[in-house]
Amino acid sequence: MSAHRLPGSGPLMVFGGPYSNLEATRALRALATAKGIAPENCICTGDLVAYCARPNDTLAQIREWGCTAIMGNCEESLVAQAIDCGCGFEAGSACDALSIDWYRFASARVTAEEREWVAQLPRQLGFQWNGLDIHVTHGAPSKTNRFLFASSKASSKREELDSTPAHVMLAGHCGIPFGETFDRENGDQGYWLNSGAIGMPANDGTADGWYLLLEPLAERVRASWHRLHYDAHSEQRSMIAEGLDNGYARALTSGLWPSMDVLPAAEREQRGIALQPPALMIEPNH
Ligand SMILES: [Fe+2]
Repeated sequence: MSAHRLPGSGPLMVFGGPYSNLEATRALRALATAKGIAPENCICTGDLVAYCARPNDTLAQIREWGCTAIMGNCEESLVAQAIDCGCGFEAGSACDALSIDWYRFASARVTAEEREWVAQLPRQLGFQWNGLDIHVTHGAPSKTNRFLFASSKASSKREELDSTPAHVMLAGHCGIPFGETFDRENGDQGYWLNSGAIGMPANDGTADGWYLLLEPLAERVRASWHRLHYDAHSEQRSMIAEGLDNGYARALTSGLWPSMDVLPAAEREQRGIALQPPALMIEPNH
C-alpha cells in the first residue's frame, strides 16, 4: 500500500469512484501500466467500494496495484460500520433508497481485514509536484460528502481551496468530470479539478468512465480528461448474477443515472449529452 508514498515527478493519473467495479478498475490499472505511470502517481479520490458487485476483488486490485488512495464517504461509513453509505442523500429520495441496497450488499461482504486496511487510508492528502501545491479531497475539505459540481458557485470552491495550503484541488464524489479556474483572495489563480469516476458513467449517455491526466510541460502542467473504455456489459452481468439487478446495473451500459436527486439544474440539463471537458493549463504557485 502506497498511501504514504508521495507521487514522483512524472505524470499523474487521477480517478474517482472505483465503486466495486472490477472491470473498470482492472482496465484503468492496465492503462496506467501501458502509459508507464508509476503506481504512486495514480491517485484515487475515494469511494473504492460502492454500487457494483465486486467489493472484495476491487479492493484486492487496488491494493495489489499500490496506487495512492484516500477515503471517500463510502469508506468512512464502512470503517464506522454505519447503517448507510453517508453519501448525503435526502431521506426518502430515490438515491437514498437505491443506496441502501448496495451498501448492505457491500458491508456484508467486506472482511474485518479489509475494513482495517480501509481504516488506515488518509482522508486528505497534500503534496508538492512540479511547482504545484496540490490537495486531494473526496467531496471537499470541510465535508467528505459535500457535492461540488461544475455549476456550483466558484466562491464555494474558492473557500474550500483557501482552507488548505494548496492552489490545486483534486476532488471526486460528484461523479461528473470538470475543471475550473478562478481567482483566489490573494489574486493568484486557483484550480478545482474533478476527475470524474471510473466505476459509474457520468450520466452523459455513454458507458465510459473518466480519469484525469496531469502532465508536466516546460513551465506549466496540462490537465486533460479522458474516457475509460472498458467491458461494462461484463460488469453489468456480474451485478445481475449477484442479485443487484437495479438502476445502477442498467446505468453501466445506458450511461444514464437512475436518479438525478443530487444534481443541480445545469447538470440535469446535460443528461444524455456526451461530455468532453476541455483541457486546462495549470500555472505553478507563486
Ligand atoms: Fe462519494
